Amino acid sequence: MFKLILALTLLSGTAFAQSRTRISFNKDWKFFLGDEPNAKSLAYNDLKWRKLTLPHDWSIEGKFDEKNPAKPEGGGLPTGIGWYRKEFIAPANFKDRLITVEFDGVYKNSEVWINGQYLGKRPYGYSSFSYEISKFLKAGKNSIAVKVDNSAQPDSRWYSGSGIYRNVWLTSAAKVSIKHNGTFVKTFLISGDKGQSNESRKLKPGESIASVNAEIEIENKFKTKGVYKILTTILDDKNSQLQKKEWPLNTSETSITMMISGLGIANPKLWSVDHPTMYKLVVEIAQADGKIIDQYTTPFGVRDFNFDAVKGFSLNGKPMKILGVCLHHDLGALGAAVNVRAMERQLEIMKAMGVNAIRTAHNPPAPEFLDLCDKMGFLVMDEAFDMWAKKKTKNDYHLDFPAWHKRDLEEMIKRDRNHPSIILWSIGNEIREQFDSTGIAITKELVGIVKNLDKTRPVISALTETKAEKNFIYQANALDIYGLNYNHKLYKDFPINYPGVKFLATETTSALETRGFYDTADTIRRWPKDGKTKFTEGNNEWSASAYDNVSAYWGSTHEETWAAAKKYDHVSGLFVWTGFDYLGEPLPYPWPARSSYFGIVDLAGFPKDSYYMYQSEWTNKPVLHILPHWNWKQGKSVEVWAYYNNADEVELYLNGKSLGKKSKQGDDLHVHWNVSFEPGTLKAVSRKSGKDVLIREVKTAGDPAKIELIADRKNIKADGKDLSFVTVRVLDAAGNVVPDADNLVDFQVEGVGFIAGVDNGFQASLEPFKANYRKAFHGLCLAILQSTEKTGTIKLTASSAGLASSSIIIKTGK
Ligand code: GAL
Repeated sequence: MFKLILALTLLSGTAFAQSRTRISFNKDWKFFLGDEPNAKSLAYNDLKWRKLTLPHDWSIEGKFDEKNPAKPEGGGLPTGIGWYRKEFIAPANFKDRLITVEFDGVYKNSEVWINGQYLGKRPYGYSSFSYEISKFLKAGKNSIAVKVDNSAQPDSRWYSGSGIYRNVWLTSAAKVSIKHNGTFVKTFLISGDKGQSNESRKLKPGESIASVNAEIEIENKFKTKGVYKILTTILDDKNSQLQKKEWPLNTSETSITMMISGLGIANPKLWSVDHPTMYKLVVEIAQADGKIIDQYTTPFGVRDFNFDAVKGFSLNGKPMKILGVCLHHDLGALGAAVNVRAMERQLEIMKAMGVNAIRTAHNPPAPEFLDLCDKMGFLVMDEAFDMWAKKKTKNDYHLDFPAWHKRDLEEMIKRDRNHPSIILWSIGNEIREQFDSTGIAITKELVGIVKNLDKTRPVISALTETKAEKNFIYQANALDIYGLNYNHKLYKDFPINYPGVKFLATETTSALETRGFYDTADTIRRWPKDGKTKFTEGNNEWSASAYDNVSAYWGSTHEETWAAAKKYDHVSGLFVWTGFDYLGEPLPYPWPARSSYFGIVDLAGFPKDSYYMYQSEWTNKPVLHILPHWNWKQGKSVEVWAYYNNADEVELYLNGKSLGKKSKQGDDLHVHWNVSFEPGTLKAVSRKSGKDVLIREVKTAGDPAKIELIADRKNIKADGKDLSFVTVRVLDAAGNVVPDADNLVDFQVEGVGFIAGVDNGFQASLEPFKANYRKAFHGLCLAILQSTEKTGTIKLTASSAGLASSSIIIKTGK
């Protein structure tokens, strides 16, 4: 490899040209569930195979069954082997171009053939990878075949999905071109506020400059000799050109890394969670005659962050706590199949709760997820592995770790290192090697791999062994920050036990809740009680109380955890396990439970009550939320809770009669009253300095009478991907949600759309996700409508025996 160090040169004004094409390669695939080795050849007849558009997850289409090899821990859905084939015409001038097929993720053990020629295997199902295919292509028809083998189970400790579940792209670039994921844009902020100066002058307070350096890898597979120019252009968030420069490039080597320094942005708008401003670096390669032969755009942001052992985290000089959640990658009823709108909705729901950070548990996410975090303003802890060489399950990645970890980790860093959202690289979650001395060498090696590619971000690992002398990952002395999972009682004395060590609560809580289910609030339960006792404490409704009074024994309730994390500045932040329920890991319940109880939001996207505790603490918007519902037996003593903020007190009324005023004291995160139930209206009023801030009412509901449909968006894009999430509410005649309604709702769709999935958030429902019906659960269910590429309207009608039906119209447009 040949390295060029360049300094400032000339300005140039060449216009951008369409020199590189990167098209979606998702359409017109054929799919066969089962093994079909002959399918790799061009001549194979796949006429009988199912036609589909990627991304695709065959597991989510299957039937729940306790006997499925993935077990309830893996979601209880089928796995197995599947084949995908696609016939296509090679891109124009393919012989003179570099043609690459890029897979964002295939779960797992993918093997790819072009025209019967083997391209390679990729075991890790969460890695993105690509193959350069020019030399295998021919004029006219070509075929690509992908075998996916997810048959060896158990594997991931959660639902993985099966298939080509992320996007596929086809890129055509010039023979001399910028490598896929071959740029690294680094910014460094010089600020007048800190009395700093740049090369030419001292900056005044209020002035700043971002110095921008870029590492650009240029590929010259055919060793073409020539004299070229590299043009670099910085665009601002409105796509206005800020700076354009030109650099010489002599080729002959197959791979050239150019280090470009001296670019800059005067008074940049900083990327932050509230104002996530993005810039772009456009790199072009021009021939000697000026013709642009390649163009590659790298979005980036300018921000500055710091972890401090005493003061915690700060972003752009301002102290802030990392208020994070852990998220697995499944999208509920849509399974693992990537859908940008579904990911965006999850993030919108998190943002509204006050979340400012996401931990991608426990694997690299889809690239679009990181684009959304950049755009929407989330900090990200990007995690590589859930295990190293020592297994967590029989067939997990430990089998491939020895041969593949270097490549998988390197490619994750190279793919992701331009995202301003990413502030932490995690090399692993609760890795077994923390308990034995092999952990030292592996930690050092992995940290070395990361630092070799990115020295601008700290490296962390989520640890559970709390005794420093016994924790071999910690003993490696290579990590930048101590990441602790659970053990919130250790937060207080951390600075005494680990003086000078930076600290982050990488995983917390593991509270268990079912939306809409309330079990007496008086005691806190640990389910299961400990590691030795069989779990028997549950109820025959496979539910956990939404009073925030149940957690796993290694965890804590939401309130216990947040009260501890909130108190200490040295706790840089926390990542609550988890933001959403996810498929698999249905702890503590046995079958038919098949998805997790840990979410602050259920699998369908409906918030559980704790959501509002966080919202009252993590946002400034006024919050008043009362629980539970108001349908109980006459005379039952019911504990009524209120989460609130921006107020001094809350007064509760039952049928107009005051039950008293309450204020949070000390570490309290809610107030409560014991109320003897009588039907009617429970009303809470929050007040500040005697003035009403918010009023909330819950009424005793009568029998189910009608259906109400509420779409999150009534206008969606006619792009075949966009979604409208329609909440179905079962109401009584007066319009109150019926809290125990479990009516079976049938859906009918007319027009230019279809049902992509249905759900109700119940963790033990065995109804299919791909269906045109769903039972309500505690009064709610969900239908996810997907557009086609036709513009027009989608009409959804929901009906149920004995209830007045309801319809809604969604418009789709270009
Ligand atoms: C943690 C683990 C998570 C999840 C969680 C459940 O120990 O890191 O992946 O299993 O427990 O409480």
